[in-house]
Amino acid sequence: KSFDVVSIGDCVMDCLFYVDRMPKMAETMTANDFELFPGGKGANVCIAAARLGSKNAFVCKLGHDMFGKNFISILQSEKINIDHVSFTDKAPTSVASIMVDPKGNNSIAVNFGATLQLNERDIDKAEDLIKKCKVLITSMVVKGATALHSLKLAKKHNLITVFNFAPAIKDLDPEFNKYVDLLVVNEVEAEVFTGSSVKSVEEAEKACQVVLAREGFEIGVVVTLGEKGCVFGNKKNGDIKHYPGKKVKVVDSTGAGDAFCGSLSHFIGKCDIYQAIELASSYASLTVQHKGTQASYPCIDNLDLSFRI
Ligand code: RIB
Ligand code: NA
Repeated sequence: KSFDVVSIGDCVMDCLFYVDRMPKMAETMTANDFELFPGGKGANVCIAAARLGSKNAFVCKLGHDMFGKNFISILQSEKINIDHVSFTDKAPTSVASIMVDPKGNNSIAVNFGATLQLNERDIDKAEDLIKKCKVLITSMVVKGATALHSLKLAKKHNLITVFNFAPAIKDLDPEFNKYVDLLVVNEVEAEVFTGSSVKSVEEAEKACQVVLAREGFEIGVVVTLGEKGCVFGNKKNGDIKHYPGKKVKVVDSTGAGDAFCGSLSHFIGKCDIYQAIELASSYASLTVQHKGTQASYPCIDNLDLSFRI
């Protein structure tokens, strides 16, 4: 196969406001700092994997505007295949308003715009490209039908599929289960997916058991827990493993989950799943120490040898 990872997702221009605390209803407050950063879960995962050395492709929809044009040059500079990055007249490029507090916590509102125009026909058009890839990663930033269609197409061509159930929605079509090899969820998404509370490592372990008991998920499930690390449920043997979080100074955790998913997609076909998750956790913990999403994703040249597998 000539490509490693294909991402089906979004490009979002992130408008980051660094604030002392989250604003209250009807309050106007001043921010301490502002940055415009390229983001979006789809682009973030693709760029994280590319910076680790994967040869990647990206499928997404942009608006005919300044941000859309900007993303083309960003993706090109990361050497990502953009044959199936297309434009729409119907909506603007996705934009997010993100507030980050001094602890690095964030609160995000996204207008998905053009991303919601990506449909099953666009995925079909990309079939020749998708079949040349080893791993497909997608999430709920695109329409559910588009995500499901891309997962089906990926399984038809024997790709490994990674699905980040974000943003979570109630009553996800159970068809997804059959076509997802590895499910990645944070606490909130795990709660929506399983219907029970996921606030601790123990509850995350229970959530893994619930997922493993369902059909599909041939590799298993990862529940990410921020500073508490993550928990992996292995479908093959039913084992559940907790990876404790690395103690680091958090500056901005925006996009850390994407750094995890993207680096995991890079490592997953290359080493055993336990090592892949370990490396992805280390990679993600590096990114929270710097501002922005993609802006904080290190390149392989700046990482120690353990990342070169
Ligand atoms: O996961 C982080 C991303 O989600 C940000 O880059 C922002 O675009 C939001 O959609
Ligand atoms: Na960051």
